Amino acid sequence: MDRVLLRRYLRQFADLGVDEICLDAMSAAEAVAVLTNAPTVLTNAPAARTNAPAAQTPPVGEAANRLSVLADTAAGCTLCGLHTTRSTVVFGEGSPSADVVVVGEAPGQEEDRTGRPFVGRAGRLLDLMLASAGFPRAEVYICNVLKCRPPDNRNPLPEEVRPCTTNFLHGQLEAISPRVLLAVGKFAAQALLDSQEAIGRLRGSVHTYRDTPLVVTYHPAYLLRSPQMARVAWQDFQLVRKVLDEQA
Ligand code: URA
Repeated sequence: MDRVLLRRYLRQFADLGVDEICLDAMSAAEAVAVLTNAPTVLTNAPAARTNAPAAQTPPVGEAANRLSVLADTAAGCTLCGLHTTRSTVVFGEGSPSADVVVVGEAPGQEEDRTGRPFVGRAGRLLDLMLASAGFPRAEVYICNVLKCRPPDNRNPLPEEVRPCTTNFLHGQLEAISPRVLLAVGKFAAQALLDSQEAIGRLRGSVHTYRDTPLVVTYHPAYLLRSPQMARVAWQDFQLVRKVLDEQA
């Protein structure tokens, strides 16, 4: 990784209150040599990025078209009560041919205002963790279980999750057909795995969502409140990397 970029990442992590991270593509000794006043380097896990084409990935144009049809439908959705309080439907964004799809919980205030997923403080941390594990935001696809913001960011209700996943999330994932899924937070993990298991028990292993490997990690908003958990979350991002590289 470029040293200037690395320093910038680390400063941003530190600004967000995360004081320990892992680094890939660089030995610990190498990283320590370039860092001053930076977070502690915990581990390194060098891994080559694979750009091998997926055998069953739909053509990009077809995926983009399917996403666009779904997004148009979502824009006018009134299937649950959230349509009365939302400002904008936050459908999702990113590459229709992404190898990695990140699924979060629901839009927050900033996302509701801008129409883009994960653009607030939690989004900055997500971007950093993705980028420093070798997944620049532009190369992944990011969406949420719910496409509309619950008032005051309350937890999603089952009667909101059900229509939103049935009508939009499953279709998005089918259109993109990623090589690996990353579920961030309890609601994404439980919705995709149809499970009631606690996130602490779901993370750390590779699950399967409709034949696609799925890794679970903590929600970045939780990591901002509990920065000591960033170390564990880092292992999850490295697991995504590993799952992808093993498909090369
Ligand atoms: N939290 C989420 O789960 N999703 C967003 O888009 C923003 C914050």
